[in-house]
Amino acid sequence: MILHRAIAIDGPAASGKSTLARILSQKLGLIMVNSGSMYRAVTWKVLQRGIDPNNREAVVQALRDMELECGVDGMVSTVKVDGVDPGDELRSEEVNAHVSAVSAVPEVRECLVSLQRDFLKLGDVVMEGRDIGSVVFPETPYKIYMDADPNVREARREEVGEVDSVAARDHADSRRETAPLKIADGAAILDTSGHTIESGVAAALEILRGQGFAM
Ligand code: DC
Repeated sequence: MILHRAIAIDGPAASGKSTLARILSQKLGLIMVNSGSMYRAVTWKVLQRGIDPNNREAVVQALRDMELECGVDGMVSTVKVDGVDPGDELRSEEVNAHVSAVSAVPEVRECLVSLQRDFLKLGDVVMEGRDIGSVVFPETPYKIYMDADPNVREARREEVGEVDSVAARDHADSRRETAPLKIADGAAILDTSGHTIESGVAAALEILRGQGFAM
């Protein structure tokens, strides 16, 4: 099996991970994987079936009953549940409100981590999430932990019309027992509070060069 390279980007909600991952994917020709979409897809299906997202056993049963299909379309990861791409519904307020509970279930994480690792069979990957550097690809040398001031992150969300409380989700994501959001061993910290998109990308490229990523 050919082993491709993985760039791991972790950080709290609205720290700029998706924007950075998208630009790195375009600039460096990497498959971009938004791991949050996968947790959102499972949550979407759980809600659609009328299952209580806080009922762990029911969530695990729902997970066993659903067919998750991950792929790549134009260098960007895709996810389907039972043959359906949930599209914009992945970012609904309802999914925002319950995705932390569903993603705290160890069986959900185990299943999705395995699907996330499979992307590496397809090519070099830039993957963003909460546990990519710590759990999904702990052995990759290319790791960035992104952060930004909570007020800056809240304002960014408002700008794009997302009104969920970023703070509540971060709190839950950082405190869960399995694979909490944390700075992975070997990760470089990039605080984007005072950065423009361009200067943030430049800083990230500098970090990756320093970590030995050949471009
Ligand atoms: O990146 P995002 O905001 O779309 O992620 C949605 C939720 O999914 C997030 O609040 C926690 C969970 N998540 C996770 O637990 N692990 C990941 N690697 C990515 C996301």
